[in-house]
Amino acid sequence: MSIQWFPGHMAKARNEIIEKIKVVDIVYVLLDARIPYSSSNPMINEILTNKKKLYILTKLDMADHSVTKEWENYFRSQNIPCLVVDSISGINVKKIEILSREVLKEKIERDLSKGMKMRPIRAMIVGIPNVGKSTLINRLVNKKVTNVGNKPGVTKAQQWIRINQNIELLDTPGVLWPKFEDETVGIHLALTGAIKDEVLKKEELVFYLLKYLRKNYPNNLLDKYQIDIKESNEEFDCIEYVTEFVKKYHIKNDDYDRCYDIILNDFKNGRIGKISLDRV
Ligand code: G4P
Repeated sequence: MSIQWFPGHMAKARNEIIEKIKVVDIVYVLLDARIPYSSSNPMINEILTNKKKLYILTKLDMADHSVTKEWENYFRSQNIPCLVVDSISGINVKKIEILSREVLKEKIERDLSKGMKMRPIRAMIVGIPNVGKSTLINRLVNKKVTNVGNKPGVTKAQQWIRINQNIELLDTPGVLWPKFEDETVGIHLALTGAIKDEVLKKEELVFYLLKYLRKNYPNNLLDKYQIDIKESNEEFDCIEYVTEFVKKYHIKNDDYDRCYDIILNDFKNGRIGKISLDRV
């Protein structure tokens, strides 16, 4: 297992985040748009009580748009401000600033009414490994990194990155640990690359994925591999599918591991289409 989150690690990560959020106005909680539930952290709400949050669903380009819409509606129904972005092409990234202002509207107005000078919004990013924290930081910064130095009153030196005159970002994101208690969550994390797939048996991952695709995205699966297996007793036979796969794609020596790697990589790289694994 590549990420081992023992209680000690969790407590350390938690304390580091608690320390850092003291100096920010808003926390950007990153979730993978394909797995908003599985990529969330069970303790995030407790850690961020009384802190303004903006949920940012990353990898918009890889998720099923209709499911993503449902997630957006869900978060809004819970009064959780949220935004979906593609940090690679930059879609919606500029909206982060606008939404941050909205989330902090009351505070900004209060400060102004007290005669305080407008200062840049201070933000930090948190999320589980591989959710896209560094990619979003780079996209926000647009490679014109400006360090604006340390803030007075902060015991540990914090580097701030000035995104523009209105926003400053803590340079190191907070790394959260993923949930491990639930088997399906583990499978979703492995399939999307949030945890190494050696954590779970490849065969288990592939069979789960094939069944899921067959049920929810049958055309994507058929278009990609052109394999049509008839269901017997309403049960989709994964063994029959991979046997057919090995034959059709001339995989030598009946190397099923090779077949599993192809399917897993195709999925991870979006070659089977825009697919969401978590549903509201
Ligand atoms: P982290 O800091 O949270 O650990 O994640 P990081 O930014 O390193 O991103 C993890 C992977 O997710 C990277 O791919 C990155 O390119 C990809 N990624 C991040 N945001 C988006 C997005 O909005 N859309 C898409 N399609 N991909 C995104 P990688 O394959 O691990 O690295 P690389 O080979 O692309 O450099």
